[in-house]
Amino acid sequence: MTAILERHDHILILDFGSQVTQLIARRVRESGVYCEIWPFNHADMDKVKKFDPKGIILSGGPCSVLQKDAPAPPQGIFEIGVPIFGICYGQQAMVKQLGGVVESGKSREFGRAFVDVTAHSDITCGVWDEGAHEQVWMSHGDHVSSLPDGFEVVAKSEGAPFAFIADHKRHFYGVQFHPEVVHTPHGKDLLKNFTHNVCGCKGDWTMAAFRAESIAKIREQVGDGKVICGLSGGVDSSVTAVLLHEAIGDQLTCIYVDTGLMRTGESQQVVDLFRNHYNIPLIHEDASERFLGGLDGISEPEMKRKLIGQMFIDVFEECSKRVGEDDGIGADFLAQGTLYPDVIESVSFIGGPSVTIKSHHNVGGLPEYMKLELVEPMRELFKDEVRALGRELGMPEDFIGRHPFPGPGLAIRIPGEITQEKIDILRKADVIYLDEIRKAGLYDEIWQAFAVLLPVKTVGVMGDARTYEYVCAVRAVTSTDGMTADFYPFSHEFLGKVSTRIINEVQGINRVVYDITSKPPGTIEWE
Ligand code: XMP
Repeated sequence: MTAILERHDHILILDFGSQVTQLIARRVRESGVYCEIWPFNHADMDKVKKFDPKGIILSGGPCSVLQKDAPAPPQGIFEIGVPIFGICYGQQAMVKQLGGVVESGKSREFGRAFVDVTAHSDITCGVWDEGAHEQVWMSHGDHVSSLPDGFEVVAKSEGAPFAFIADHKRHFYGVQFHPEVVHTPHGKDLLKNFTHNVCGCKGDWTMAAFRAESIAKIREQVGDGKVICGLSGGVDSSVTAVLLHEAIGDQLTCIYVDTGLMRTGESQQVVDLFRNHYNIPLIHEDASERFLGGLDGISEPEMKRKLIGQMFIDVFEECSKRVGEDDGIGADFLAQGTLYPDVIESVSFIGGPSVTIKSHHNVGGLPEYMKLELVEPMRELFKDEVRALGRELGMPEDFIGRHPFPGPGLAIRIPGEITQEKIDILRKADVIYLDEIRKAGLYDEIWQAFAVLLPVKTVGVMGDARTYEYVCAVRAVTSTDGMTADFYPFSHEFLGKVSTRIINEVQGINRVVYDITSKPPGTIEWE
């Protein structure tokens, strides 16, 4: 059992394939309780008992409990005496399994709805009073129509007479709505009442505890071995490196491959922070000519991505051979900033591989033949927990709060062929755009903002002269995970200011457009 499980209370979330299961985990962790998400069909009872959860949450999901072979939780979870909280599909699956009835519905509810609280429960205690009329977020076609023995109604809505049910004795609860989404204003408190009041979790899973436990774990795994860690300039690899350095000091060497596709000043910031500030041994490899040469004449997006990924691996491997050259042993471990969303096994009902939209390149993805054992201290963390860990480690805020930046860098923000001239033009435009966003105090509201240099020249007039120069597109999106995104609604005044500055200050651009595409149907990056 890992240190986290030994030392802290934990909750098990069984996933039935809802789009928002990860939000349940986020809410539980925000209240200081460690939890894991498992696909419902990977939860055999031996495994569950070994995990020893203080409570179990059943997520929502896209299926109907009325369909043949509907996904069902293992019967055993209702017999081991732990509290259970079923959400939407999870509620219906629990009701069906315990002898109640679920019907498909005349009374479908999607979006905002209201419930009337009709009775007291340990979950609503201190959050919703009896008699209150409370906002929730619903998304269901089927609904519970008859309760299993032992259950009673806590709240009802127009379309769901059993919107909130409880078996107070066995500590089984079910809600038809989604407490994990922000559109259920007190949802977080209801979940906290489940984990704290009902399950008795202490809420002691903090970043300070995580830091101390991770350091002990890293030391145990690595012993006196040598570790290499690829830095990208981004948050995940940076926090991984700083944590590792705290754990094993100079046994860690970082490798920063400068692809020449980074933004203005970025490479220098990485060197300043890691080599000069933290004193971490750093190999800074300027491979920009190699990358630019390799990309010469290539305009197809996937070709670009694949070439960059391959060149990166080649350069990284060459650099890694230099680590430990003196003793001829080389590195034993590769540290990666793998996060929990990459680790969670997804529930697939449809089967078959999904379509590849883009082949991602990350600094971590290195070939197996390098025969390095992986160190992945952040496998249990979500992105915002990584940021919290970075803060806990005292890392500078401007590093921790950075927008994501893709592994292939500016190459995928220059549709078509890449030249040094285009990279230089794009860098200048990007700096101005982000400078204006920061000045307007909008940086932290936006998930990601960047400029794109289009392979299109248009005619303009500056002074009395004709110009024939590139078009620059600016993009800004809000998102919680990069999976879906909305374009940011800048004011016209702001966009006007950005446009004027870019055209006046960047030679080579005479027109600026704003990208108003959400994801889907667009993607965040242009390639
Ligand atoms: P898309 O363009 O797929 O991007 O909507 C979603 C998020 O992923 C980032 N992105 C990448 N990150 N390597 C990365 O490390 C990549 O190859 C890559 N491609 C896209 C993108 O910046 C956005 O945050």
